[in-house]
Amino acid sequence: MASARGFTLWFTGLSGAGKSTLADEISRRLLRHGIGHEVLDGDVVRTHLSKGLGFSREDRDTNIRRIGFVAELLTRHEIPVITAAISPYREVREEVRHKIGSRRFIEVFVTASLDELVRRDVKGLYAKALHGEIKNFTGVSDPYEAPVNPEVTVDSENESPEQSADKIWDYLVQNAFIRVEQLVGHA
Ligand code: ADX
Repeated sequence: MASARGFTLWFTGLSGAGKSTLADEISRRLLRHGIGHEVLDGDVVRTHLSKGLGFSREDRDTNIRRIGFVAELLTRHEIPVITAAISPYREVREEVRHKIGSRRFIEVFVTASLDELVRRDVKGLYAKALHGEIKNFTGVSDPYEAPVNPEVTVDSENESPEQSADKIWDYLVQNAFIRVEQLVGHA
């Protein structure tokens, strides 16, 4: 068995960098340990809570504030939260960190070079952005402000998803966000 205290694991990084993949992997590990939690993924949130919002700075900041609002409610009640949105602007990320409380806010910077993301182009959006078919695309024609002091940085270009997830998991265990009793086998 395992237990957790409330925290928000806040993934930030460019589209296609691997935020959702890692959020899902950490979610699976928490489930395997019987730890209830919630995942707020940008793509999903934009179909409900943030439906109708676009990609101007104002709309992105609104999106992030909404995600932060829900994350704070859950975190306050000791429910672990994982968020996965680009969240390109430092100022609003810091605002959310402050609201949640920096002791419970874990910023995870998922990095990969733009060249690599263009190569992967899982959703075909980078090609469109580079051809000017999508305006204000983060990393191509819109800013991304990298975190200055993230709690964890993972590099999806040079690490496997398992390696990156291990780093994040270790951080959670080492900082007593999750307590895993001696298990037979591994995480
Ligand atoms: S955020 O900037 O408000 O944090 P969010 O993570 O919710 O963004 O949504 C990003 C996703 O929207 C991308 O992964 C991509 O699939 C899609 N998208 C559509 N247009 C854009 C754009 N102009 N910039 C970035 N992502 C876009």
